[in-house]
Amino acid sequence: MVDQVNVGEKALITGASSGIGRALAGVLAKRGYEVWVAARRQSALAELVAEISANGGRAHAVSLDVSQPEATEATVSKLNEAVGGFNLVVANAGIGGQQQPVARQTLSGVRETIETNFLGAVATLLPVVPSMIQRGSGHLVGVTSLAGEVPLPTAADYGTSKCAFSFFLASAASDLEPHGITVTDVRPGFVKTPLTDKNSFEMPFIVELDRAAQIIDSGLRRKKRTLRFPFPLALGIAAGNALPTGVRNAVIRSKRPA
Ligand SMILES: NC(=O)c1ccc[n+]([C@@H]2O[C@H](COP(=O)([O-])OP(=O)(O)OC[C@H]3O[C@@H](n4cnc5c(N)ncnc54)[C@H](OP(=O)(O)O)[C@@H]3O)[C@@H](O)[C@H]2O)c1
Repeated sequence: MVDQVNVGEKALITGASSGIGRALAGVLAKRGYEVWVAARRQSALAELVAEISANGGRAHAVSLDVSQPEATEATVSKLNEAVGGFNLVVANAGIGGQQQPVARQTLSGVRETIETNFLGAVATLLPVVPSMIQRGSGHLVGVTSLAGEVPLPTAADYGTSKCAFSFFLASAASDLEPHGITVTDVRPGFVKTPLTDKNSFEMPFIVELDRAAQIIDSGLRRKKRTLRFPFPLALGIAAGNALPTGVRNAVIRSKRPA
């Protein structure tokens, strides 16, 4: 069943072949959005498109590799023109990075993480900005991470990519709010997806995927600027960041040895 709330509106969601992007695309399609779902794995996208159509929604698959930012910008730009301007764009595609202590991180690995999680995400959002400004409305969303707020061991590349994207979104919001455009920075803690299924360390307050999609959807409806969840983890990180740096780092190391 499709609600009528956003019928006639168009949304692009990257990283929609699995995890958060896939779940969110389903929720947005139920709200009435016509959704363009983007990723590299076309068979997974075809399944999602069929599922959304079977539920009465409208969806289209888009082949996109965000680790190629220039090509991503060109593809999104063409698509945005072809559909007559997206109302909502969710830059969600991302990778977990090298997950190695910094002594074992490589420059090419750092580049891949930054190109995918930061430049690829920026290349997804930038091309739709002029048409949103022209219409005086629109909603840009970036999926960053609470990991961008705290320097976790083995996450130098990943945390940096998310912190950089959060800063970009905050600055973009200052530019775009006067034009009627909402910018939302979604900062999840741990969500149960194929990305976190690989983790062997403890993941406090991990959230089930469907619940995460509902939380994000609710935040987008309320046009939140920053959406941190789950609350206990966000609070713990904020409290930890108020400690002297040496104390905070010792606490982090005790919880998550490199
Ligand atoms: N799960 C968590 O706990 C958590 C917490 C904080 C933030 N996040 C962020 O949430 C986002 C989604 O993560 P997830 O947990 O849902 O992971 P996931 O299940 O592994 O999904 C990642 C998605 O990103 C796409 N993707 C990866 N590299 C891509 C590329 N080069 N070009 C296009 N698409 C690409 C994948 O599609 P293809 O492989 O088909 O291209 C897939 O659809 C990521 O940005 C992640 O950093 C996740």
